[in-house]
Amino acid sequence: MMSSPPDHARLREQLAAAGQEHIYTFYNSLATAERDRLDAQVASIDWSLVQELVETIVKRPRSCVRPGTLEPAPYFPHHPADRETEEKYRLAHRRGEELLRQGKVAAFVVAGGQGTRLGCPGPKGTLPVTPVRSKPLFQCFAEFIRAWESRCGRAIAFYIMTSPANHAATVAFWTQQRYFGLGDDQVMFFPQAMLPAVDFAGKVLLESPASLALCPNGHGGSLLALHKSGSLADMARRGIEQISYFQVDNPLVRCLDPVFIGLHDLAAADMSSKMLPKACGKEKVGTFCLADGKLTVIEYSDLPEALAEQRCPDGTLRFSAGSIALHVLRRDFVERLGAGGFALPYHRAEKKVSCLDLPSGRLLHPAQPNAVKLETFIFDALPLARRSIIYEADRQDEFAPIKQLEGVDSLRSSQEITVARNAAWLEAAGVKVPRQPDGVPDCVIEIAPSFALYPEDVRRRKHQIPPLSPGGSIYLA
Ligand code: UD1
Repeated sequence: MMSSPPDHARLREQLAAAGQEHIYTFYNSLATAERDRLDAQVASIDWSLVQELVETIVKRPRSCVRPGTLEPAPYFPHHPADRETEEKYRLAHRRGEELLRQGKVAAFVVAGGQGTRLGCPGPKGTLPVTPVRSKPLFQCFAEFIRAWESRCGRAIAFYIMTSPANHAATVAFWTQQRYFGLGDDQVMFFPQAMLPAVDFAGKVLLESPASLALCPNGHGGSLLALHKSGSLADMARRGIEQISYFQVDNPLVRCLDPVFIGLHDLAAADMSSKMLPKACGKEKVGTFCLADGKLTVIEYSDLPEALAEQRCPDGTLRFSAGSIALHVLRRDFVERLGAGGFALPYHRAEKKVSCLDLPSGRLLHPAQPNAVKLETFIFDALPLARRSIIYEADRQDEFAPIKQLEGVDSLRSSQEITVARNAAWLEAAGVKVPRQPDGVPDCVIEIAPSFALYPEDVRRRKHQIPPLSPGGSIYLA
């Protein structure tokens, strides 16, 4: 059945009530198809929500942090400190593998972000990243999942959240790459919702005379998108109980980790997280805290410097648990959040957004942030979980994010971390790695997940590794 076109007069009324009539500034000069497109966009937005957000977080930005109530969050250390914990991890590993073998775990990547800091024209997951073969991020995840599939002898479902801005390009890329060897019936794509970007006075920005400047509504929007797209129902049909959630920006991510999944499952947790001890107080990662006893992530931009830098008597950071944005969520926890409309608090993110100047209609490319994006964050579901665990990741083995063009968290730093990790794995297996005088590996090493997921795998396959020559490169698959 065809849906009827939105009633323009009613839309005008809605916009007037929300103080956004300027959106139709150029309406009379638009061709019919453009008018219809703009009307359809306007009709797709919840204007009472936009109005509420303009009043509460755009015009009157509030700090959500109350320093007095914060305590550091406890976590399971990466290396068990005693026999009891060692035994717990052994059981957790066994449980996690069992869930994988039973097909009860799905991988889920949020890839709807705009990648503005990276200036990447296509979807971020298509960025070539690995140091020898230049494999794109999406291929790193697909190969990691395939390696687990061959270990547990069954297909693992993989859900990919896009945004309307990159959905078609993402699907086209995967199709062209033949799903990197995964089955086309096990990779599911769905877009998240968008919200308009507004200026600091709360006025919605226009991208063109016939189009609003829309932005993805944050990775917290993944919960509603999982539901609306039918993915949650699809998971239920497939017997999936646990969702292993991760971000698109880290080629070393262990997007399926049996110990983590097992610790989470054995604790009957609703939503669990991986952490890293922060490299410094100002590291740009969220911090796990207990706020009034409730587990919470405080984003780096929201954590007051005095707290970020606070030290324990032994000199270590008091709030040291940094988030690597890797979670496991029970499917029925996500379903339960649906009863509350998947509502999470909105945050303001000040960004540079190209937009039309009004009333001139000139296109502006601002050099400074000119807009507020309205986003919800997945980690705000943590305080709603009845139980949670946090498990420490290994920084060198698992965390090499790519967030910006240069410096920290760039493609270059990510490749350096990857090569350093691979060199350490080879040396731990007794392979000689040429190094420069400053200790940096003097060769480029890439290890495919099919060759090794852990250093122990390298040790077992040591006899397959040819000698490394200074200045050379090696690809192990
Ligand atoms: C994020 C986390 C931070 C964590 C760090 C670890 C947030 C707000 N912060 O920072 O706590 O310590 O990673 O690397 O998440 N995305 C969508 N849709 C959106 C927005 C983002 O799918 O609407 C996806 C992006 O594609 C990306 C991820 O979410 O995969 C993170 O996005 P970003 O907002 O850039 O957060 P970071 O600053 O990287």
